Parts: sequence; structure tokens; C-alpha cells
Amino acid sequence: MTRTRPTVVVTRKLPDVVETRMMELFDVRLNDNDHPFSAGEIADALQACDVLVPTLTDHIDASVLAKAGPRLKLIANFGNGVDHIDLAAAQARGITVSNTPDVLTEDTADMAMALMVAVPRRLLEGAALIRDGKFTGWSPTHMLGQRLSGKRLGIIGMGRIGTAVARRARGFGMAIHYHNRRRLRPELEAEVEATYWESLDQMLARMDVISIHCPHTPATFHLLSERRLKLLKPTAYLVNVARGEIVDETALISMLERGQLAGAALDVFEHEPAVNPKLLAMPNVILLPHMSSATIEGRIAMGERVIINIKTFCDGHVAPNRVLPPSI
Ligand code: DGY
Repeated sequence: MTRTRPTVVVTRKLPDVVETRMMELFDVRLNDNDHPFSAGEIADALQACDVLVPTLTDHIDASVLAKAGPRLKLIANFGNGVDHIDLAAAQARGITVSNTPDVLTEDTADMAMALMVAVPRRLLEGAALIRDGKFTGWSPTHMLGQRLSGKRLGIIGMGRIGTAVARRARGFGMAIHYHNRRRLRPELEAEVEATYWESLDQMLARMDVISIHCPHTPATFHLLSERRLKLLKPTAYLVNVARGEIVDETALISMLERGQLAGAALDVFEHEPAVNPKLLAMPNVILLPHMSSATIEGRIAMGERVIINIKTFCDGHVAPNRVLPPSI
């Protein structure tokens, strides 16, 4: 690995300020027209570079990594989630993987909270009514939704984003419940007055809103399986700004079709970017194009993280945001 000006391939268009700084520091190949890389282009990049900067649209599995050249030592992911990278295969080949945690916490939590308000209060339905010219005047029973205050919120995954959502939801008068691999420190639990459920099943059956904030790993694939979804109250709402694969989408759709769930807000999809057409027709479902962390401030901060990870690593130190395979 060269210690000065490593060759860096960036697979998607990043904010100009990030790309410019990268050009100052590294020998960079940019993707000006922002096309998603084909498998062949990823393989070529892995052959030619010291550092790859991929995003969640690049699938870097063991067979792709097998094509990596000897120079490749760092995959500095532009993004928090690393479920598109086979971490164990990377580690086995001596390749470090880093990500960009922290900097998208507040933006993602904002969007989760916005969706949590928008679905039960029928925000999109109301806005569509106006746009369609169907607003004929106020009436006492028009566009009635569900109140958020006083409702129970069950957070799945109480890491940085889950905790940021809890803080916001307290402000909206919700009671915070959570399921996590590890229980929070008592002072943090006290701060958001959270109730811990070791059993996800037990928590699901009692909540008014469920919000997903765990990473997608082999252990969380279809964590909300058909069996678990059926534990939810028919009056409950589901919010997912994490990863689509965590929910059995087919089971979710069939429950929504049968009125076994009050509604859902999905920023992510199991077969992204494909969206099941059945979801499009549902008035009690809000669909967003994976945009929960999409702020210019957040994207620039992510780029800063990537640059710091590359620079630190290439200077011979541990990348500050090194990611290890889940089993380690
Ligand atoms: C991430 O960084 O994993 C986010 O999903 C991107 O929005």
C-alpha cells in the first residue's frame, strides 16, 4: 500500500466539496454521471485501486472480492449500513472495511419521527385531497386520524438512531419501549424513560407504533417474519427507515390488505429499488425512496468520514470507523 496518494475509486457521485477534497489528497477516479457500477466495473475497480469507496448500491460479496487485486487494502464505504459487503470475506483477504456512523443519526431520526406523525395523522391523504381539488370544507368527522401522544412506541434496535428517535418521541408524548441485543445503561434508559423488553415477541404484541432501527445482518433478516408481524395489534403502525430485508414484505403486504395492521411507512424495501405495486395503491401506507439520511449536510459529513478513514488508514493507523464482521 502506498503511503502517499493512494489510488481511490469512488463508485457514485458525491457532493462536489467532498470530491474536490478527495482530488486534493488522493489519486481519485470519480463517477461523474453517477451510474450504478456494473459487476464488471466493480471488479475492474477492485483490480486497479488501493481504496474502493462504494455505497449501498454496490454488492460486494465473496465472489466479487475474489477478483480484488493485491493493492486493495481498504473499502471505505460511503454509508453507515454495510450489509452489501461480505465483511468476513473481506477480512479473510486482509481488507479493512470502514463506514460512516454518527453523522446520519439525527437526519434519519428526524425522518422516522416525521413518518411516525404522518401515517396516523393521514398527512399524505390530506395533501392529495387538496391537490385533487376535493377539499369542500371543514367538518367534525373529516380526515380523522390517530393521536400520537400517549401511545406506546416500540423501537427495535436502540443504538444511536434508535435512541435519537426515542428522544424525539418523548417530546411527542409517547411512551418508549425497546428491544435490543443489550440493555441500555440505566442513565440512558432513565433519560428517555424507556422500558426494556428482552423478548421481541412480547414487546410487539403491546405496541401502538413499531419503528425499526437495527442493522440488516444475517441475524436480522426477516426479523419481522410473518409470525412476528401477526403479533402486532391491528391498530398498530410500522415504520421502517432501516433496511427492507428486516421485514418479510410479502407478509406485511398481505396483512395490510386484510386490515390486520393500521398502516405503514417504508423508506426502504426488501427488493430495493423495486417497490411492490400492491403497496402503491394503499392509502394508509407512505412510501419514500430511501431518503431518510438525505440531507446535504449529512452527505458532506459522510464524505468527511470517508476521507478521514482513508487518510488515517493510509498513514498506517487503524481507520477510525473500522467495521468488523458481526461474529467478532
Ligand atoms: C446508510 O448509510 O446505510 C443509509 O441507509 C444511507 O441512507
